[in-house]
Amino acid sequence: WWDHVLPAPKDPITSVTEAFLSDPSPLKLNLGVGAYRDDKGEPVTLECVRRAAEKISGCQFLESTKAAAKSKFVEDSVKLAYGNDFNVVREGRFAGVPALSGTGACRLFAQFQRRFYPDSRMFIPMPSWSNHHDIWRDSQVCTSTYHYYDPDTKGLQFQALMNDIKNAPDCSFFLLHPCAHNPTGVDPNYEQWKEVSHIFKIKNHFPFFDMAYQGIASGDLERDAIAIRVFLEDGHLLGCAQSFSKNMGLYGHRVGCVSIVSRDEKQATAIKSQLQQIVRAMYSSSPVHGPLLVSTILNDADLKALWEEEVKVMVDRLIRMRITLRRTLEELNSFASWEHITKQVGMFYFSGLSPKEVDRLQRDFHIYMTNDGRISMAGVTSSNVDYLANAIHEVTKV
Ligand code: LMR
Repeated sequence: WWDHVLPAPKDPITSVTEAFLSDPSPLKLNLGVGAYRDDKGEPVTLECVRRAAEKISGCQFLESTKAAAKSKFVEDSVKLAYGNDFNVVREGRFAGVPALSGTGACRLFAQFQRRFYPDSRMFIPMPSWSNHHDIWRDSQVCTSTYHYYDPDTKGLQFQALMNDIKNAPDCSFFLLHPCAHNPTGVDPNYEQWKEVSHIFKIKNHFPFFDMAYQGIASGDLERDAIAIRVFLEDGHLLGCAQSFSKNMGLYGHRVGCVSIVSRDEKQATAIKSQLQQIVRAMYSSSPVHGPLLVSTILNDADLKALWEEEVKVMVDRLIRMRITLRRTLEELNSFASWEHITKQVGMFYFSGLSPKEVDRLQRDFHIYMTNDGRISMAGVTSSNVDYLANAIHEVTKV
């Protein structure tokens, strides 16, 4: 038995954490995984989460179906993504289920896509979060890529992106990052989203938004949902994966939601029952504690306001670190241009460092990042930013 099983290739993100953990050097820095840290490099439990946990501390979690039936979690999360006032929410024209964070939400959608459009493919931006490719592959849905990032300008390749959308067969599925694109930190602006939405309408493409970072791009939860709002305003049916890992710091709780905007309530009911059936056969039902924490925060005006402030604090720190890193590199009279550090947004700085430079940073300086040169700004602090800038300078100077 099992003689034919060979070791799986290492995951490009989690393997960075593994390598970091096995390095005994006191100098080591983990800039791999996108998980928020404070300025001391410590993981953060948000105060709104602490208070919500106290509020629900007497709840019984033994019967998950009963608890899930009572919870308004799905409605609360879609309101956050789609906006309170959108017709979709008022008219109940959406089907959604709780998911195991963003990955679980994407996976449920991919299974759903496979079940009802078995011959379809998913168009994924180039580059994208590496796991997108694995999720759709394991769901037996073919993938293609579309142009997104221009390594020369370190910005958006908008014309090429539009051409790919136009040239894709009508009624294609596209995966879009609505904010804080992972790994590039490069987002279309409002006008560009309008254009993208317009062409999607003409081509009758289906947009699937993976929103893992709502709030983490601009510090404003509403503003970060602008892409989805544009598509809704234009009357699209769409899908959306949401994660509360980054914006509520609920990484280990694995809280997320997948939802699909539907034509009418009848269609929503049918879609929801299919999503529930996929869940049932895979892991029966989601844990209830995390979704209850989220609902408690979203339904309490004080806790929600506190959450919004805490999101802003996280984003302000990421921005401060971007500014400091850029300034420090510029003061070193580095040959390269570093303006994209502060132009890009969200958790990541897509540095353009080559795999060789990334290797050298790891070998000589114990600085860990993904092989594509993505730096998690969450791992950068006031105490290590100088060390990081000097190391980057060292490996990039000519
Ligand atoms: C990342 O891109 O680092 C995060 O989304 C975490 C993960 O699981 O990959």
